[in-house]
Amino acid sequence: MRESQPAAVQSKAGARETAIAARGVVVEFGAKRVLDGLDLDVYRGEVLGFVGGSGQGKSVLTRAVLGLVEKQAGAIEVFGQSLETATSKQMKALDRRFGVLFQQGALFSGLTVRQNIQVPMREYLGLSRGLMDELAMLKIEMVGLSRDAADKFPAELSGGMIKRAALARALALDPDILFLDEPTSGLDPIGAAEFDKLIATLQRTLGLTVFMVTHDLDSIYSICDRIAALADGKVVAQGTIADMLASTHPWVRAYFHGDRARRLDASSPPLNSPASPPLNSPESPARVDSVRSL
Ligand SMILES: Nc1ncnc2c1ncn2[C@@H]1O[C@H](COP(=O)(O)OP(=O)(O)O)[C@@H](O)[C@H]1O
Ligand SMILES: [Mg+2]
Repeated sequence: MRESQPAAVQSKAGARETAIAARGVVVEFGAKRVLDGLDLDVYRGEVLGFVGGSGQGKSVLTRAVLGLVEKQAGAIEVFGQSLETATSKQMKALDRRFGVLFQQGALFSGLTVRQNIQVPMREYLGLSRGLMDELAMLKIEMVGLSRDAADKFPAELSGGMIKRAALARALALDPDILFLDEPTSGLDPIGAAEFDKLIATLQRTLGLTVFMVTHDLDSIYSICDRIAALADGKVVAQGTIADMLASTHPWVRAYFHGDRARRLDASSPPLNSPASPPLNSPESPARVDSVRSL
């Protein structure tokens, strides 16, 4: 497992470029300390899976990186830009590079899919209506929705379609980094596997950095390049699946060596590998449920 180093060291030639570097992050709500000196690196172009028990602070960290939650101590850099010293203009420029699928990733219920996708466009781009319509349609196709989904309202869509529409909205401004907070929760196993594949494909074709909060071991095994585990307000392990399996931290052991994990561990190579069968194929183990109770 790698040791934490200052972000500046890592952006030197030969080292991997850091997209997000968090150091000593502390977030408290009243007397409750949720993040307690957290260090984390996310490298450019990787899919980082962020795991941890419910209520440990995964969403809080996501919001802190997005500049939406105030921290009591620590430093966060995104693409070399320090959040602490960013002017509002610099923060707005950074915001444009973020695509976000929140955990409660609801679309605006009173807007159609097309209008939802156009919300960030209206906020950040001064485009004509015709161009925004074309762009929205492009994003709709990109996430595998049919063109007629454009004029539907969220209430007319299935759970999987809503996730895809929310993903299309997250991609509206051609972000460099995608934040996904439990993107497959609430989807059935086949829908979840399809959504994983979509994320993997978009990540590769668009060269995205993906920060993905997840409970879903299938997602971890199939699309994550590295994993970071959160416990007691800190990242207690980060690295590859092999690093996770070798971790002695009790929560990480329980998570990666539990019954569900064992079923996957015995499975074939990750989805990204050309040699692996697609999930849910006869050669593949059944997709397992999330480990929510840990
Ligand atoms: N705005 C807030 N005000 C007070 N407490 C909060 C707030 N946001 C999150 N918390 C608390 O912080 C803890 C971590 O929450 P969260 O990041 O949502 O957990 P998870 O790891 O499940 O995503 C929880 O105890 C939650 O109740
Ligand atoms: Mg959460």
